[in-house]
Amino acid sequence: MREITKQQLALRNGQDKPEIWIAFRGLIYEVTESRLWKSGKHYEHWAGQDLTEELADAPHTDQVFEKFSPIGRLI
Ligand code: HEM
Repeated sequence: MREITKQQLALRNGQDKPEIWIAFRGLIYEVTESRLWKSGKHYEHWAGQDLTEELADAPHTDQVFEKFSPIGRLI
């Protein structure tokens, strides 16, 4: 699986590059096409970073990731 650094992830925050990525439990997910992650913002959360810990704040479970295939692994 493609290895992605924190720096590469940080640029995919919905502001600096067209792609929007988030990291969750060591894997990178692309949410560019999601209307819920427009401009990299999802409620009070920003893309381009590891949001594993923040899932506890969400009203949903990790099931929201099931429809996405990871594009890489955070190193
Ligand atoms: C205040 C915090 C949050 C709120 C209110 C929120 C709300 C929502 C809502 C309403 C949905 C629609 C689907 C559903 O409810 O099952 C959703 C989807 C999703 N959420 Fe959250 N969420 C929050 C935090 C997070 C965090 C921290 C993450 C990442 C760890 C996350 C990742 C996702 C993903 C990947 C989807 C699926 C998007 C899609 O299907 O296009 N959410 N969220």
